Amino acid sequence: MSKDIVEDITSLKKERNALLLVHNYQDSKIQELGDFIGDSFELARKAKFTDNSIIVFAGAEFMAETAAILNPQKKVLIPSSMAKCPMAHMLSPTKMKRYRTLYPNTTIAVYVNTTAETKAMADICITSGNAVKIIKNLDEKQVLVGPDRNLAYYIQQQIPEIKIIPFPKIGYCYVHRKFIPSDIKKLIVRYPEAEILAHPEVSPSVQKIANKICSTSRMLKEAANSSSEKFIIATENGLVDRLRSNFPTKMFIPARKDAICIQQKQITIYNLYLSLLKEQYRIYIPPNIAKKARLPIERMLELSE
Ligand code: 13P
Ligand code: SF4
Repeated sequence: MSKDIVEDITSLKKERNALLLVHNYQDSKIQELGDFIGDSFELARKAKFTDNSIIVFAGAEFMAETAAILNPQKKVLIPSSMAKCPMAHMLSPTKMKRYRTLYPNTTIAVYVNTTAETKAMADICITSGNAVKIIKNLDEKQVLVGPDRNLAYYIQQQIPEIKIIPFPKIGYCYVHRKFIPSDIKKLIVRYPEAEILAHPEVSPSVQKIANKICSTSRMLKEAANSSSEKFIIATENGLVDRLRSNFPTKMFIPARKDAICIQQKQITIYNLYLSLLKEQYRIYIPPNIAKKARLPIERMLELSE
């Protein structure tokens, strides 16, 4: 990485009074420049309580949208307009309407990996880091959870007393779908002492062989607190880079070498520099949508405390 561009990014951040929020899957060079690195829940909370006038979001578009919904008076920028999470587009407002009609009295919890329009029609938002706690706190007999069916399965295993209804019919992350038990079993033979950490977006068959299922930031905490020296990691490989840089004496084995989120990787040092220089691309959420979408996000922040 050229020293000049790093210096330019650092001075532009100061000049613009900009906060750089970085998701755990971003390239390590971008992580090094971030003011805060975290999972989608931590980043939403950070965005809500910042004093900076500009937020630059190095992550998926839905994360930047969440920051903009929480901060209508601030400029929220995303360096690439291509960083759209495909799963976020698997639950359209039309599908939301259909399920509302099918289950008129059931609470609808949507994953934060959704568009602003979909959030505007939901009762509450959840992330991988807080879903179980929030759904438990709702004190309902049944809850609709979408769009990630694997996350819904994970929640159901943790809270058997509440009926979790996954919706819509198709909802998954193409990166986490790559993990399969046979690959992980081969790694277990090679590294029998390794602890297996998996994200709740992996399939039920992989969840069953994992030692811990957790959000990206929870994996960092687990690596810090566990006595294990070796870990098999079933999530996007940006997190593996972060684990290796935070814990250089421990060993982290990616459960698949091709677990790369192409959309999140659209953010580069160069377009990050351009984003700060030209203040592009601003996230715009129509005020009527933002007003409605703020409620389920605020409710999530309250119930997570
Ligand atoms: P986390 O909230 O665990 O960081 O996950 C976000 C995500 O997009 C996982 O694919
Ligand atoms: Fe979306 Fe999957 Fe990328 Fe996460 S890893 S942002 S769920 S496509």
